Amino acid sequence: MITFVWAEDENGLIGKGGSLPWNLPNDMKFFKEVTLTGNVLMGRKTFESIPNPPLKKRENVVLTRQTDLEIDHVLVMHTKEEVLEYAERTDKPLHIIGGSDIFELFVSDVDMLYKTKIHDQFSGDTFMTSINYQEFDLVEEKEGILDDQNSHRHTFQIYKRK
Ligand SMILES: NC(=O)c1ccc[n+]([C@@H]2O[C@H](COP(=O)([O-])OP(=O)(O)OC[C@H]3O[C@@H](n4cnc5c(N)ncnc54)[C@H](OP(=O)(O)O)[C@@H]3O)[C@@H](O)[C@H]2O)c1
Repeated sequence: MITFVWAEDENGLIGKGGSLPWNLPNDMKFFKEVTLTGNVLMGRKTFESIPNPPLKKRENVVLTRQTDLEIDHVLVMHTKEEVLEYAERTDKPLHIIGGSDIFELFVSDVDMLYKTKIHDQFSGDTFMTSINYQEFDLVEEKEGILDDQNSHRHTFQIYKRK
């Protein structure tokens, strides 16, 4: 099974200057809970945005066009085909965690979407790829709880391909 796990603002923004445009610990917690159920695939730039890589207790797969790139404790891959073969031979979900090129590359292969909708507008430079939500059913929706550390209204949504 292939999933997307991401957070976007009201304009579909996901990134700013190589990191996240917002600080929302609740979303980090949700991200961890979801991705710990499987392995993670990300683009090379998203990997470089992780503070203490690799993400623990999950196999980290990084996609790059650099044929000589080696990263300790990380599976480096170069093509979509290689990733799909890997997803098929592992019995765990493969959670695709961005960024936009990587979401775009797998948009027709994804089975489930774990989306955090942030009801606010930020500035930034990286946007979510367009998804045809008519191909998916919304199966779960939960409002995030606001507190001192989590000041942006947000909703966790789970979609399943029809
Ligand atoms: N809000 C969220 O949920 C979320 C999630 C993820 C990321 N982000 C943010 O998004 C930004 C990073 O995302 P991004 O879209 O700029 O970059 P990215 O998708 O993480 O990485 C792009 C890189 O992936 C490799 N790549 C892309 N397409 C490929 C293909 N077809 N085959 C092989 N390799 C390929 C290339 O690496 P090489 O250059 O090494 O060849 C490319 O430069 C950061 O700001 C990050 O914080 C936000």
